[in-house]
Amino acid sequence: MIDLDWDVERSRARRNKRWSQYGRDVLDLTVAEMDLPVAAPILAAVQDDVRRQAFGYPLADELSEVPQAAAEWLAEEHGLATDPDRVRLLPELMRGIVMSITHLTRAGSPVVVPTPVYGRFFDAIGVAGRRAVQVPMTAGELDLDGIERAIRAGAGSVLLCHPGNPTGRVLDAGPLRALAALAARHGAKVISDEIHAPLRYGPGFIPYGTLDHHAITLISATKAWNFPGLRCGLIVFGDPGDARLWSGLPRAAVGGMSPLGMTATVAAFREGRPWLREAVRFLDGNRKLVTSALTDLDIGYAEPQAGYLAWLDLRRFGLGDPAAHLLRHTGVATTSGADHGAAGEGFVRLNFATPPDVLTDALDRIVACLR
Ligand SMILES: Cc1ncc(COP(=O)(O)O)c(C=O)c1O
Repeated sequence: MIDLDWDVERSRARRNKRWSQYGRDVLDLTVAEMDLPVAAPILAAVQDDVRRQAFGYPLADELSEVPQAAAEWLAEEHGLATDPDRVRLLPELMRGIVMSITHLTRAGSPVVVPTPVYGRFFDAIGVAGRRAVQVPMTAGELDLDGIERAIRAGAGSVLLCHPGNPTGRVLDAGPLRALAALAARHGAKVISDEIHAPLRYGPGFIPYGTLDHHAITLISATKAWNFPGLRCGLIVFGDPGDARLWSGLPRAAVGGMSPLGMTATVAAFREGRPWLREAVRFLDGNRKLVTSALTDLDIGYAEPQAGYLAWLDLRRFGLGDPAAHLLRHTGVATTSGADHGAAGEGFVRLNFATPPDVLTDALDRIVACLR
């Protein structure tokens, strides 16, 4: 059903950020977006919006179908029972993170961030006027003692990326339960960004909000269904008090979702399952290409359990900034690990959601260079 003959030229023709940052001689595996066409039901729904010129101000959140569609998706696919009244619409996830930190965590308190993590988390914490306390994960696991120490020292919240960007790690029940107990003990707010969760390769994903009823969860259809340019996302409040407080914030602070974003989100959650299954199968094939290309290299690499990012530990090669080295010597652009916190130094992040021939070319070049 997905047109798997989609190629990079068609991605280039979108004239978006992906494939526009370097010359044609560079294989760009940075921007976290897929070289895949958008699902037919989403495209049809958005085309219908365009035909009707649905470019006016968006409906009020509660009059749109989005909270209901999102609540159904979360209950059926993630096992997170959510009242649609606790779902609010965002212009992008980062806005939700900035505003949650600003208004729903203890005033002025630092924010704990298990690292390595999506670099823009640090921007968001800075925009909220707070300090980030980086607590490196050990072998992909949360350092619960480190998190507790940071909270005892004054941090008021924990910003989680689950599944992880850049690691693709799905956290286990044990550490998640321990984090929820710790948060309850100290009255800390946990904000869990679960944007990559629909793209998981196996069972076992536990939404953090099922374990902590005060948590804030961020989700979006944009990552899994590949329409990040429609700029939309969702925030889900476990705590009804948080939802009420959010409703009282001015529109200028929380923003809103565009009508096209609403349409695409509803189509994704209601009609997007077959496309998603195929996309995950496609990505899984690429995930295996990465794993087999790297087996003989003796580098630190754990196959992601979700998402389409590969996180490569290149520290033993002593390359300084390995992303700069690879770009210069192989013409493959990857994201510098250092963007993901101090724990990311010496690593690179590689987006493998690209046609298999492009991926194979990129992996061959990287492997030849590292050898
Ligand atoms: C964990 C995570 N959160 C949020 C985003 C971006 O969300 P938005 O563009 O809606 O702010 C990304 C994009 O890569 C991401 O990986």
